[in-house]
Amino acid sequence: MTINEIRTKYLEFFKANGHTIIPSAPIVPQNDPTTLFTGSGMQPLVPYLLGEPHPQGNRLVNSQKSFRAEDIEEVGDNRHTTFFEMLGNWSLGDYFKQEQLPFFFKFLTEEIGLDPKNLYVTAFIGDEKNNVPQDVESAAIWTKLFAEKGIDAKVVAIGSEADGYRLGMQGGRIFYYEARKNWWSRAGVPENMPVGEIGGPDSEVFYDFATLHDPKWGKECHPNCDCGRFLEIGNSVFMQYIKKEDDTFGLLPKQNVDFGGGLERIAAAAQGNPDVFAIDVFADTIGLLIHFSGKEYEDSRYKRSFRIVADHMRAATFMLEAGVRPSNTERGYVLRRLIRRAAQHAQKLGVEHGQGKDSMLVKCASIFIEKYKQAYTELQSEDVYQQITDEIWREEMQFAHTLEAGMKEFEKIAATGHIEAQEAYTLFTTHGFPFEMTLELAAERGLDVDTEGFKKEMLKHRALSRAGSEQKFKGGLADTSEKTTRLHTAHHVLLKALQLVLGPTVKQRGSNITQERLRIDFSYGAKMTDEQKKEVERIVNEKIAEELPMTRSTLPKEEAEKLGAEHEFGAKYPDMVSVYSLGPKDASVENPQFDKAFSIEFCGGPHVSNTSELDVRLTKSNIGPFKIQKEEAVAAGIRRIKAVLV
Ligand code: SER
Repeated sequence: MTINEIRTKYLEFFKANGHTIIPSAPIVPQNDPTTLFTGSGMQPLVPYLLGEPHPQGNRLVNSQKSFRAEDIEEVGDNRHTTFFEMLGNWSLGDYFKQEQLPFFFKFLTEEIGLDPKNLYVTAFIGDEKNNVPQDVESAAIWTKLFAEKGIDAKVVAIGSEADGYRLGMQGGRIFYYEARKNWWSRAGVPENMPVGEIGGPDSEVFYDFATLHDPKWGKECHPNCDCGRFLEIGNSVFMQYIKKEDDTFGLLPKQNVDFGGGLERIAAAAQGNPDVFAIDVFADTIGLLIHFSGKEYEDSRYKRSFRIVADHMRAATFMLEAGVRPSNTERGYVLRRLIRRAAQHAQKLGVEHGQGKDSMLVKCASIFIEKYKQAYTELQSEDVYQQITDEIWREEMQFAHTLEAGMKEFEKIAATGHIEAQEAYTLFTTHGFPFEMTLELAAERGLDVDTEGFKKEMLKHRALSRAGSEQKFKGGLADTSEKTTRLHTAHHVLLKALQLVLGPTVKQRGSNITQERLRIDFSYGAKMTDEQKKEVERIVNEKIAEELPMTRSTLPKEEAEKLGAEHEFGAKYPDMVSVYSLGPKDASVENPQFDKAFSIEFCGGPHVSNTSELDVRLTKSNIGPFKIQKEEAVAAGIRRIKAVLV
C-alpha cells in the first residue's frame, strides 16, 4: 500500500464516521511564538482544545505536515525522519475513549489489514502525586477489542522503562507504563508542564515486527524497548487536564481526544518491513541514488547516507515550499543544515553530480514534489517548483565554494602535522567547513583531531550566539524610528502593568514592535476580563502621565539578576548587561535608584528618555493615549496583546 493510499483511507474512514477533513497547517507555525516548526497535528488546534468552538465542528481529521528538528542527529536508523506526516483525528469534547480506541483498531485491522496478533498496546499507570488515576477504562476497552478478534489479551503493569527491561513481556498484550511513556503534553511529563499547558494520559499502539531482541538495550524486550522490534504507530491522547497556577491539575472545560499516528510508520507496518525508508515515497529517491552512485542500499557502509539524503531532501522540499530560505539563523539555519548535510552524504555515496536542474539533490526534490503534489496541492504551482529547485542549487553552489576555500585552509593546517581543536573550530566557523569533513580528511592523512576540545569550543560559541539573538529577539523592534521607540517604552510599562494585574507569574514570551502597534506574547492561562484590560490600560496611562524618566545602566549580569530585572526565560546573557529602569521621578544615570523603579528589564534599547514623550496628542484628554486593541490566545498558556498609542 502506498502512503497516498493509506492517507486517503484514513481520511475517508474518519469522514464516514462524522469527521470534517481539515487542511494541513503550514510547517512554519503562523501564530505560535513558542516553536520554529509544526511538530504535531495538535499544535494548530490548541485554542480549540482549550475550549474555543472550531468553525468546522467537533470531529476533525487531517494529515499534518510535521517537522522535528531535534531528530536531525537520529536520522540514519530505520525509523527516524525529520519531516513526517502525522495522521490526526480529534474530538473536541465529543467522543472519548469508548469510541476512539475502537476507531483506530478498526482502521488498522480492517482498512489497512494489519494482523491484530501483531498489535500491542499501552495505557497510563496513574500518578498519585498529581491525582490522575490509572487508566483502567482504556485497558478494559482494549481487552474487549482483542477478544472480538479471538485474542485473549493479558494486562500487565510495567511502570518505568527500566522496569520494562527487567520484567519483559510477561505474556502481556496490554501494558501499563508511567508518565514518561504514557502521558502527552508538548512539554512532556506533568512536572515539566508550565501553567496553562494542556495534556493528558495516552494510549499507544505498537506494531511487532518479530525481529530478534538486541540485549544491548536491556536484558528483556518490551513494547517501549529501543531494539527496533516494536514500532509505535499511533497515540491516542485523552486531552483533559490543564496545569493551574498552584501547580495542580484542573479539568479542561471539555474532554478531548487528540490522536496522532505516523503515516510513514503505518506504511512500514502495512508492508511488514521495519525500515521506513523502504516505503514507496523513499524508494524512488533511493533507487535514483543507487543508480547514480553504483552503491548498494544494503551495504552497511552506505545505508545511513542513503537515508540521510532521502530524509533531508524531503524535509528541505517542504520547508522551501513553506517559504523558508537558507540562512544562518533560526529556520533558515535548519534548512541550510539539511541541504548541506544531504550534499555531504551524496558526496560520500559518490553520486555523479550534475549541474543546475541535473544536480542530484534537485532531482531528489523533484521526485518528492511529484509524489506529494496530489495530497498537498500547494506543490503543484510551477512557481513553487522553480523556487524550490533554484534555492537548492544555489545553496549547493555556495556550499561548494565554502568547501573549496576550506580545503585550502585545511591543507595548510594539515601540513604542520597536527590539527588543534581551535583550528578545527575556526575551519568550521570562519570557513563553514563541516567538522565531520575535518575528521574524515584528517583520518585519511593519519592525523588526530581533538574532538572533545572542538565540542567545548562549540558549546562556548553557542552560548554566546544565543545571548546575541535573544537580546535581538527580546527587542523585537521592526526599526528604531521615533514611533517604534515610543511603543517599545510603552511595552516595558505594559509588561509590568500585566504583572501587577494578573500576577508575578506573567512572563514575556515574545514581542514584535512596528511603527503602528506593539505586540507582546506573555504567559498566562486564561482570557483576560474586560475589567483586567481596563485596569492594565489605566496603569500604563498613569505612568505616562507621571512623566517618569527611563534610565539605561550597564552592570554585571549577577547584579541585574539580583535586582529582579525581567529577562527572557532560559536566555543566556553576556557578563555585562544593559538594563533599562523606569522611574522614580528623580532617577538619573548617576543615581538610577533601582529600589524605587517601576520596572527594570534586561534590554538593549532604544527607548525614549521620559514617558511624557509617549503622549504626543495636541489636545490631551483625561483618557491617556495607550489602548489595548486585542487580547487573544496564541498557544496553550500564552496570550497575545496588540496595543497602540493614539
Ligand atoms: N499530540 C500527540 C502526539 O504528537 C498525538 O497527536 O503524539
